[in-house]
Amino acid sequence: MKKIFIKDLKKYDEKEVTLNGWVYNVRSIGKIWFLILRDGTGMLQCVVVKNDVDADTFNKEELLTQESSVTVTGVVRIDKRAVGGVELGVKSIKIHQIAEEYPISPKEHGTAFLMDNRHLWIRSTKQHAILKVRHRIVKASRDFFDNNDFVLFDSPMLTANAAEGTTSLFNVDYYDRTAYLSQTGQLYGEAGAMAFNRVYVFGPTFRAEKSKTRRHLTEFWMLEPEMAYCDLEENMEWAEKLLIYIVEQCLENCNEELNLLERDISKLENIKAPFPRLTYDEAAKLLKDNGVDFEYGSDFGGTDETVIAEQFDRPVVVHRWPVDIKAFYMKRDVNNNDLALGMDVLAPEGYGEIIGGGQREDDYDTLVKRIKEHNLPMKPFKWFLDLRKYGSVPHAGFGLGLERTVTWICGIKHIRETIPFPRTMSRLEP
Ligand code: 4AD
Ligand code: MG
Repeated sequence: MKKIFIKDLKKYDEKEVTLNGWVYNVRSIGKIWFLILRDGTGMLQCVVVKNDVDADTFNKEELLTQESSVTVTGVVRIDKRAVGGVELGVKSIKIHQIAEEYPISPKEHGTAFLMDNRHLWIRSTKQHAILKVRHRIVKASRDFFDNNDFVLFDSPMLTANAAEGTTSLFNVDYYDRTAYLSQTGQLYGEAGAMAFNRVYVFGPTFRAEKSKTRRHLTEFWMLEPEMAYCDLEENMEWAEKLLIYIVEQCLENCNEELNLLERDISKLENIKAPFPRLTYDEAAKLLKDNGVDFEYGSDFGGTDETVIAEQFDRPVVVHRWPVDIKAFYMKRDVNNNDLALGMDVLAPEGYGEIIGGGQREDDYDTLVKRIKEHNLPMKPFKWFLDLRKYGSVPHAGFGLGLERTVTWICGIKHIRETIPFPRTMSRLEP
């Protein structure tokens, strides 16, 4: 059934329309009162004039509280002064429910309070803007993969494999054994790549992170392309192309949202090819040169990532990492067995790592050795090892952290606002 939304009202000048929504605000100046209506697509000023409506309609002003649900019928008028460029001359109002006193008022609230009321907080304009940017990033990513011959390939959430280390696993009772919540879809994506050539896995992933930082969630979404007949070089190109497309699409379609978030758009307009590429060794030297007390061989911390990223105006790719800090499945550099063919992409402006990936070990015996070196049980990897027995090929892929990407594109401080219902160490509700 055709319903009319506030965002489309300009097309209905001088026409009578019926709109469903919620009361954002009511304000009176005697014989006229104004109802600011929110319908999820926009805000609209509805004008109720005493002489134009019956007494019953006019008296509804006293009843309507913030977030009461209403259906309003009236005539659309283009008006440059109004928010959104139109207003509505009201004819009638139907009330569905009078809302109780709404906990979130226009005054300032602390984050803990807002997070406790996340189910209501998502109605506010800033949260709307962030979640709409998230929607656009997902759409852009899907379009990108779909347009480049990738097949969507869903991986299970319940798995027997520890792919990203054993310290961040969530255990689930699974009948008479233990299952884990998936830390990554990658291993399944590799099976998909051998079946379809190019695939992408997109879904939630889980990490029992012990760290409470503004970059970590325990449940986050990852976009994970995996490509057969692909090496580290090509993998870096795909990462660059994807990010450029995402930024372009956000600039093209989310102007209103980014302005509302007061995002410095010029910073996003800089995101062009080519992205600088540094080896881990070069990045470590860059840290030393900038006076950072960094121990060669360790992973970069948040501040290290910021110092590296600050040297550039676009995302930086760091590749060829010491094997000890990377996962068991990474292929090693033929020229240096101490280096893994991994790559991370660091976002500009101190937003840290948004992509992790690399070229995968494709040799059966070497992979068996790595699983043993990492003290992982062999049995759950039997199927994964099969991929190296039946037509193994060089292959590579990466994972883009959706919420980290949203945080960066929106230019906001904390990852918790980038997903409708964030999960962190201390939060399972709402
Ligand atoms: O670098 P990670 O751990 O890589 C993988 O999981 C690979 N298996 C992906 C692949 O090659 N298919 O994670 C990938 C990205 C990170 O760069 C980061 O953006 C995000 O996932 N990420 C998190 N985001 C929010 N909260 C967390 N706790 C995250 N851990 C990783
Ligand atoms: Mg990583």
